[in-house]
Amino acid sequence: MTSEREALDLNRADSSTLLSPLGRRIAIANQKGGVGKTTTVVNLGAALAEMGREVVVVDLDPQANATTAIGLDPRSPGNTVYDMLVQKVPVRECLSITEQEHLCCIPSHLDLAGAEVELVSMLARESQLSTALESLTHLYDYVLIDCPPSLGLLTINALVAVTEVITPIQCEYFALEGLGALIQNVNLVKQRVNPSLDFTGFVLTMFDPRTNLSTQVVNEVRNHLAGKVFNTIVPRSVRLSEAPSFGQPIGVYSPTSRGAIAYRDLALEVDQRYDTTNRSR
Ligand SMILES: Nc1ncnc2c1ncn2[C@@H]1O[C@H](COP(=O)(O)OP(=O)(O)OP(=O)(O)O)[C@@H](O)[C@H]1O
Ligand SMILES: [Mg+2]
Repeated sequence: MTSEREALDLNRADSSTLLSPLGRRIAIANQKGGVGKTTTVVNLGAALAEMGREVVVVDLDPQANATTAIGLDPRSPGNTVYDMLVQKVPVRECLSITEQEHLCCIPSHLDLAGAEVELVSMLARESQLSTALESLTHLYDYVLIDCPPSLGLLTINALVAVTEVITPIQCEYFALEGLGALIQNVNLVKQRVNPSLDFTGFVLTMFDPRTNLSTQVVNEVRNHLAGKVFNTIVPRSVRLSEAPSFGQPIGVYSPTSRGAIAYRDLALEVDQRYDTTNRSR
């Protein structure tokens, strides 16, 4: 039987003849909880993989929601981000393949919650993830990191490890609340450790066309963050909220649903918003 490692190598060998890796690293971050970070990581990742891009989803949240939603068992996920960060297991041994072609995951586990404490005592504690992921950049087109809902050391590690940030904003009351703190953190990391870091865009999620509120939020966010908001708006959709319990990205669970179409559109936009300066990194 083909082992996961062998399958992964085969997967890479096949596709590397077709693709030149873009090597983009993107953190999906917003310290506000429940705004659609995990839903965006999993479905954007799967939609990019559908386009033939080689994608790794890194689940950096101890809640392990991305791990579950992508179809892995969070109780026995194999080597996890914790093993990679704390036990120093090489990144290639922490990759799990998923049911979807071109889509891999570095899973999470509840024990990642302890990593935040263990990282504190390490030298260069902010750059542990960056160092661990280093060798992936030239193998994959996209490394997407699902951040926890906080601005703690795990999220800082993500911001040091990437060059791009995508921030989901839920079409709800207080949509912009807390955004100032996130922008400030991104700027601090940019000034002090990672000059290449920038926001690629903000994506509006859970849009409900039946409410005036949703439309007001869209207008407010577009005024506030002019030029940085993706045209694609992710609708509120029951299908999108059901898919994780089947361990399937929306493109597999309900390929023609509005949610699936939105994440495909977002993937195209992200793929096109490719800053050529990223190419050299
Ligand atoms: N477009 C959508 N339509 C309907 N439900 C959605 C949509 N996006 C996300 N959800 C649901 O909203 C909840 C929160 O979404 P999600 O887990 O993606 O947010 P999060 O920002 O990752 O949360 P956390 O901060 O806890 O990590 C989940 O139950 C998810 O299924
Ligand atoms: Mg989440």
